[in-house]
Amino acid sequence: MASVTMEQIRKAQRAEGPATILAIGTACPPNFVTQADFPDYYFRVTKSEHMTALKNKFQRICDKTMIKKRHLYLTEEHLKQNPNMCEYSAPSLDTRQDMLVVEVPKLGREAAMNAIKEWDQPKSKITHLIFCTTSGVDMPGADYQCAKLLGLSPSVKRLMLYQQGCFGGGTVLRLAKDIAENNKGARVLAVCSEIMTTSIFHGPTESHFDSMVVQALFGDGASALVVGAEPDESVGERPIFELVSAAQTIMPDSDGAIGGHLKESGLMLHLIRDVPKLISNNIEKNLIEAFREIGIRDWNSIFWIAHPGGRAILDEVEAKLRLKKEKMADSRHVLSEFGNMSSACVFFIMDELRKRSLEEGKSTTGDGLEWGVLFGFGPGVTVETVVLHSVANKV
Ligand SMILES: CC(C)(COP(=O)(O)OP(=O)(O)OC[C@H]1O[C@@H](n2cnc3c(N)ncnc32)[C@H](O)[C@@H]1OP(=O)(O)O)[C@@H](O)C(=O)NCCC(=O)NCCS
Repeated sequence: MASVTMEQIRKAQRAEGPATILAIGTACPPNFVTQADFPDYYFRVTKSEHMTALKNKFQRICDKTMIKKRHLYLTEEHLKQNPNMCEYSAPSLDTRQDMLVVEVPKLGREAAMNAIKEWDQPKSKITHLIFCTTSGVDMPGADYQCAKLLGLSPSVKRLMLYQQGCFGGGTVLRLAKDIAENNKGARVLAVCSEIMTTSIFHGPTESHFDSMVVQALFGDGASALVVGAEPDESVGERPIFELVSAAQTIMPDSDGAIGGHLKESGLMLHLIRDVPKLISNNIEKNLIEAFREIGIRDWNSIFWIAHPGGRAILDEVEAKLRLKKEKMADSRHVLSEFGNMSSACVFFIMDELRKRSLEEGKSTTGDGLEWGVLFGFGPGVTVETVVLHSVANKV
């Protein structure tokens, strides 16, 4: 007769409390471009200055993005050495892959090191690694390379998420929550590392205007979290946010609205013009479902972390839900300083929100509010909806 029951074993394996975010780190490549200079730069490096009407249109798109600057791994020197990347669809996947398989784990490591520094615990306590990127593919994956670069234990349980696109940050959080809550003592390092512009940089074309929009929007960056349940305050662990619930759904009537295809010429992204409308017309259903149990129906009473896929998405959601201007302030700030960094964006916004809340003397990490939402929007259109609970700021 065994001395323990199955129920006792299962109970001992699981954490009691909710998953919490224990640290946030970010990193960007040092090279950056200002949006004001980008149309000239882009048409010059791609030797397309003769396409004056298209350049004017591109200028109009750039002007509407509200982006001020973007960090890009790709420098003018890289582009000079690899002229195939400057055409719209010349074979260039090998060149792109050679850069990405090295640089994506490296940038992820930098963000992870910043998160681990804030967490202030030995790396040996990390039990799981989730690594997410839409930039390049490889075997063993970027998760393996990043674990090696960080010197994590060979027994760290890794999960690699390739090609999730812009909703990936929400996916990572949803998985980290499940892992942390179902494995007592687990400490999950979650990394989103995006060097998207090396995948999606293509010369200008009259045939796909959405490609011109893509060239104006994306930037490179990495972000990382340490996630764990039952923070050990005796060693200095302190939660920043608690994870309440996480859901993924496909938006109605959105087939083909956002997609990407990996070709010999790199990653070809497609966006239909109506993406902002599609998202804003359908998002309230996600909110109602996510906050039903908590009993919240006033979307101005929560804090917001919305993936800034483009300025118009934030504008349309804000208008549709009659949100006050300050709700999207952190999303707009990150969009304006970094562009759309795909999966990495939402944790930059989370970092901005908690730092701003502290600086402004707000009573919680969530702008003085108790409950909040994190939205990832991406290919499909797929939406990740994560409900967050803030913690009191120690002032
Ligand atoms: C790109 C963006 C900033 C432009 O701002 P805007 O307020 O729509 O500005 P405009 O309506 O003046 O559009 C500017 C030009 O871009 C074109 N354009 C905008 N979105 C387009 C799309 N998806 N495909 C093709 N062209 C597009 C417009 O036709 C217009 O061209 P024109 O000046 O020749 O008339 C805005 O449309 C946006 O944020 N879109 C969301 C992008 C998106 O789907 N991101 C998801 C990635 S996860």
